[in-house]
Amino acid sequence: MRAVVYKGPFEVAVEQVEDPRIQHPNDVTVRVTSSAICGSDLHMYEGRTAAEPGIVFGHENLGVVEETGEGVTTLSRGDRVVMPFNVACGFCKNCSAGFTGFCLTVNPGFAGGAYGYVAMGPYVGGQAEYVRVPYADFNCLKLPEGTDNESDFILLADIFPTGYHGNELADVRPGESVAVYGGGPVGLMAAYSAMLRGASKVFVVDRVTERLQKAEEIGAVPIDFSKGNPVEQIKEHTGGEGADKGIDAVGYQAQARGEDREEPATVLNSLVDSVRPTGALGVPGLYVPRDPGGPDENSKQGMLMVSIGRLFEKGLRMGTGQCNVKRYNRQLRDMIIEGRARPSFVVSHELPLEEAPSAYEKFDKRIEGYTKVVLHPHA
Ligand SMILES: NC(=O)c1ccc[n+]([C@@H]2O[C@H](COP(=O)([O-])OP(=O)(O)OC[C@H]3O[C@@H](n4cnc5c(N)ncnc54)[C@H](O)[C@@H]3O)[C@@H](O)[C@H]2O)c1
Ligand SMILES: [Zn+2]
Ligand SMILES: [Zn+2]
Repeated sequence: MRAVVYKGPFEVAVEQVEDPRIQHPNDVTVRVTSSAICGSDLHMYEGRTAAEPGIVFGHENLGVVEETGEGVTTLSRGDRVVMPFNVACGFCKNCSAGFTGFCLTVNPGFAGGAYGYVAMGPYVGGQAEYVRVPYADFNCLKLPEGTDNESDFILLADIFPTGYHGNELADVRPGESVAVYGGGPVGLMAAYSAMLRGASKVFVVDRVTERLQKAEEIGAVPIDFSKGNPVEQIKEHTGGEGADKGIDAVGYQAQARGEDREEPATVLNSLVDSVRPTGALGVPGLYVPRDPGGPDENSKQGMLMVSIGRLFEKGLRMGTGQCNVKRYNRQLRDMIIEGRARPSFVVSHELPLEEAPSAYEKFDKRIEGYTKVVLHPHA
């Protein structure tokens, strides 16, 4: 089959690879109809991880069940399904408690598994014609038959639940104001989820015009951090108080203000300053224990200069980590089915698999409006 293969820093190619096959009675294979590119893929694409050339990317996958293992009980050939990016067993200590992003079974020696992702286990990515899904009864979420709302449902694999998770971590309540740093796909989904949860005012901080425009379109207040200190801008909009809650949807590749360089702790520190005393921070943005591409010695070791002193002084709480997609995907699916949520506003490009190399390049440069790309391997 054809698949998106990592060749080395800033290079992917569409190549022939081996077809997946059933390896365990509870596996299925899925004919992939949609697979999205994620900001997390860029960490590997840019060569900042230990990902080896040859890995097939793609952890956001939707398709139709092709073949079922003999132990599969709830799925049949032809079912349309979307898979959480987390590969999880469903029965370990963490899965049982709902922490499927930290499964103890699927990736021995590490809590958590994913498709097509460095260090997340042997699960081949789905930017390909077919993908194997282990523990399939647990990992497949059934969708209505047909092709309706495909570009909404694909977002259930990662970014819609992840944006929602940011709100859950920050405990966003009706009527609150929320400062979201990052207007990428995750930030936009965090802002959208805040509104679904009844937030009164949502800020989205970024500097990419198209992304700030999308934020404004859904009713958020765009804050351009290239035009002034975002903390002061948020304070101005909140009578000097600061937002009730804050969400980091940027992660360790945060850009310094007014300069073309990375400053990994800048968003965390800005959030501490943007949120009022006794508020809370949700951090779905990714931070890593080691970053060989980091701008200084400390950040190469994953050590950032974050003001714990100010965090303590303000009595802020903070939650972080991989999203446990299973915890939210069914409810968010039902909001899509009932027309209460239309997250597909974030999708900027739908392309055949062959266009992956140029899509990666443009998404990585954040140019030409590339915000969220969905690949269609059978287009
Ligand atoms: N926790 C999870 O389960 C999970 C899942 C998916 C993605 N992620 C992570 O979420 C983060 C965002 O993902 P994405 O797909 O939206 O990525 P993205 O790179 O497309 O978006 C990040 C945005 O942050 C903006 N930005 C950079 N520096 C900034 C600053 N100082 N202040 C405000 N904005 C700034 C960029 O312009 C960009 O638009 C990444 O770190 C990704 O790895 C985490
Ligand atoms: Zn993703
Ligand atoms: Zn598990």
